[in-house]
Amino acid sequence: MYRTHTCGSLRVENVNETVTLAGWVQKVRNLGAMTFIDLRDRYGLTQIVVEEHSDAAVRETALKVGREWVLQVTGRVLERESKNPKMPTGDIEVAATAIRVLNEALTPPFTIEEQSDGGDDLRMKYRYLDLRRPPLQRNLQLRHRMAQEIRRFLDSEGFLEIETPYLVGSTPEGARDFVVPSRMNPNQFYALPQSPQTLKQLLMVAGYDRYFQIVRCFRDEDLRADRQPEFTQIDCELSFVEQEDILGIFERWAKHMFREVLGIEFKEPFRRMPWIEAMEKYGSDKPDLRFGMEFADLTGPTKGHGFSIFDEAEYVTGFAAPGCASYTRKQIDALTEFVKRPQVGARGLIWIRVEADAVKSSVDKFFSPEEVRALAGRCGAQAGDLVLILCGKKFKALTQLCALRLEVARQLGLRDPKRFAPLWVVDFPMFEWDEETQRYYAMHHPFTSPKPEDIEFLESDPGRVRANAYDFVCNGTEIGGGSIRIHDAKLQATIFKCLGFTPERAQEQFGFLMNAFKYGAPPHGGLAFGFDRLCSLFGGSDSIRDFIAFPKNNAGRDVMLDAPSLLDQTQLDELYLTLREPKA
Ligand code: AMO
Repeated sequence: MYRTHTCGSLRVENVNETVTLAGWVQKVRNLGAMTFIDLRDRYGLTQIVVEEHSDAAVRETALKVGREWVLQVTGRVLERESKNPKMPTGDIEVAATAIRVLNEALTPPFTIEEQSDGGDDLRMKYRYLDLRRPPLQRNLQLRHRMAQEIRRFLDSEGFLEIETPYLVGSTPEGARDFVVPSRMNPNQFYALPQSPQTLKQLLMVAGYDRYFQIVRCFRDEDLRADRQPEFTQIDCELSFVEQEDILGIFERWAKHMFREVLGIEFKEPFRRMPWIEAMEKYGSDKPDLRFGMEFADLTGPTKGHGFSIFDEAEYVTGFAAPGCASYTRKQIDALTEFVKRPQVGARGLIWIRVEADAVKSSVDKFFSPEEVRALAGRCGAQAGDLVLILCGKKFKALTQLCALRLEVARQLGLRDPKRFAPLWVVDFPMFEWDEETQRYYAMHHPFTSPKPEDIEFLESDPGRVRANAYDFVCNGTEIGGGSIRIHDAKLQATIFKCLGFTPERAQEQFGFLMNAFKYGAPPHGGLAFGFDRLCSLFGGSDSIRDFIAFPKNNAGRDVMLDAPSLLDQTQLDELYLTLREPKA
């Protein structure tokens, strides 16, 4: 038997027992007469002590071991003289009577402790060493717990877990596909699924009326802290349901997760917010509701005062930053610089300082004090607040003001990762107009059902058609989204037409689905949650990488495996591939 206990399990109750532990050396402290070894496994850390009077062989081994050596230690549990209240095992130590070296180790390139001294790249290259660190071990344990809770809940609700293939044809989710050449079908390629969207709809046609899968999805898109090229969805689909049924089940599911995993009870129903309200009040379809600072529409009252920037703007909007009237000129300049950064892209920032007996603003030349006070009032400003205003094209100005709202909240410490503000965003527009290509795109995906009352505008005014689509949002992140689907081949054909597909192309790309719909498709709908994002939300981190065992870096590379990499000529030949020099 390699061990009787783990390195995290011994307590005062075990004093005087003889135990055997196995683990990695985190630290060795040699104090002459005594040597202390911190032995670590994924359960915790136990202090091993080798004393002056210990067996000579034990002392000799203790002196030669280094960081990350793998040891088996047998000894007696002692109550410590100086206890460490910060460690669960801090009341005891193990006086070694035997130490067996199970494996030696090279000195690791960074410290493997709660906080590491290694840079990002180095830790990614030696990910297996980084994964030994307690924060990452906690994260992966959290992920495991959450996966179990998801399965437990969905199983109890009658969902079947069904796997779908990874080698498929292209699914249109808006990103680029990763593709895999087929040796047996020369010059043909599989695509890795961006999500199992069409497959789960086929499962509905097949009668599996409650499906789920914790499934890997692949998207070749630009990476950010909350995006990986391969990520995991909790993918669900249901038949004979309406939007209300789906939101009901998954609101109960989300509450179950908060309760079972974090011990947080949400008694009230989650807020529902129409997309247009989210955009106009928060400048985002994923509003962070941990704090207020709602936007006000100032377009009307700012017109006709001779301030050309306002007069020419399609939209003027602002919010009150609480308690920020005391911001210095320098602080306001810094906010102006913030909104002018290319990532935000505003031309300038207008401000109003609201004090009990006076208002001061950057537009005092054009507005009387009463008018300025009225603008501040519209934004809900109280004495002591600073009103911040942007203008321009409506949705551009709103999005820019959203960036500013989040920045101000960050500066005020309002983005507390331990607080959760979940909501459903509903009534999304069906289509999104793209200036560059001058055409409509599906905001969600082409299988989303329009609201029945808006169907009449599909061809005459696609921009005003709303979809039966919904997102689950928490703390400013889109955690999940879905929709009621079209189950009628004719309506589906109309939508493809609105999206600019010719009937031939629609048939070529989605013929399998449209044909299936001719064989008795039930009304159905579903949604998918980003599992990695849910884990990082619950774990209180911005980066999903910390919750994925082997993530890719921002260039989409696995630096540990050195992937992607070149293929040798034989492999290329087998696949009928010839390579071209990349353009400089
Ligand atoms: P959608 O594209 O909105 O919907 O994806 C669902 C959820 O998956 C997560 N997500 C990601 N997480 C990490 N890295 C990425 N690159 C990434 N892309 C998306 C998000 C998102 O909310 N088939 C539909 C769902 C449906 O209609 O049922 C779909 O895939 O948390």
